[in-house]
Amino acid sequence: MDEKTILDFLREVRHPGQGDRNIVELGMVNSIDDEGGKVTVTLGFPKRRDPLTEYLVGATRAALIRNLPAGTETEVKAVVNEAAPEKKRQNINELGLDQLGSVRHIIGIASGKGGVGKSTVAVNLACALARLGYKVGLADADVYGPSVPVMTGTEGEQPGAVQEGTQELIVPIEKFGVKWMSVGYFAEKGQALIWRGPMACNALKQMILQVRWGDLDFLLIDMPPGTGDIHISLVQDIPMEGAVIVTTPQAVALADVEKGVNMFRNKSVDRPIFGLVENMAWFTPEEHPEEKYYIFGRDGGAGMAAQLDIELLGQIPLVQSIRESGDNGEPAALGSRPDGLAFVELAGKLAHKLG
Ligand SMILES: Nc1ncnc2c1ncn2[C@@H]1O[C@H](COP(=O)(O)OP(=O)(O)O)[C@@H](O)[C@H]1O
Ligand SMILES: [Mg+2]
Repeated sequence: MDEKTILDFLREVRHPGQGDRNIVELGMVNSIDDEGGKVTVTLGFPKRRDPLTEYLVGATRAALIRNLPAGTETEVKAVVNEAAPEKKRQNINELGLDQLGSVRHIIGIASGKGGVGKSTVAVNLACALARLGYKVGLADADVYGPSVPVMTGTEGEQPGAVQEGTQELIVPIEKFGVKWMSVGYFAEKGQALIWRGPMACNALKQMILQVRWGDLDFLLIDMPPGTGDIHISLVQDIPMEGAVIVTTPQAVALADVEKGVNMFRNKSVDRPIFGLVENMAWFTPEEHPEEKYYIFGRDGGAGMAAQLDIELLGQIPLVQSIRESGDNGEPAALGSRPDGLAFVELAGKLAHKLG
């Protein structure tokens, strides 16, 4: 395949910190090597450390995988274009911990599996904490299905970048009094799905560590569903204080909750679980807000909490308006309906528990 064709593929890769211009236009493609069966692209970055390096390497690789014939091996390298000055380079962790230095509580929102309403709870909990007067941020770490942009009506927004000393930092999106950051702001639809293993992991950590969070009382991390290596690595590298586990009440969910709990309780992680949130605890029809139908069984969450020795921190009903407000980007926790207030109550309990 000729270089020009490959270069055209690379035009799909946009630099979110550079007014969304593509990497070809920005002159970042240093070289393309096609050895027949393997394509190697080298990207050149200016001497300053670009906080989006990892992201751009991942996005470039994704563009190659998307466009090249199946089975073609791909490699993307990042180099510094100008000779780096002799100043000491900080590694990502040092950089990041700096940024998290004025965050009081970093809390993972986790679940054993997807679809239980983890993101719904995370987004509403963030809004509810802000409503109670706390300074709040939320990092959507679900590389495989970032849903925070849609749930907050910030889809299509572009986080800016600022230079602070020798560091370039990502500026979170602010709305409803909460600072939001999501992999979704940087990835084209579907692109996130291509990220795998270490690549996803690195992009993720950057989305959390190299962000100008400023002073926060709470930083919530909407963890990806599941309990694999990426989760353990995330909990180890981000100084999470502990976790809140989200579940639905069915008896079959117990095994998943247990996996989620063990992820934090295992020896190499060893962080406390602040509580269990039972989502979809009962069904309440829109027109009869006082009625409760225990369609998934009653007291499932309380049973699980007792069995795993964690506190049942809150119960959220299954109501159509919670789904609708998620789809419309206006979190239910901003309103005064009973379901919205359930999140405010949950927020109060969590804040109280953490002092
Ligand atoms: N309490 C609830 N009432 C109504 N719909 C809900 C509730 N919790 C979640 N949902 C809906 O269920 C779907 C999955 O929720 P989501 O938060 O994306 O789950 P997860 O992050 O665990 O995959 C979404 O469409 C969401 O709007
Ligand atoms: Mg989710």
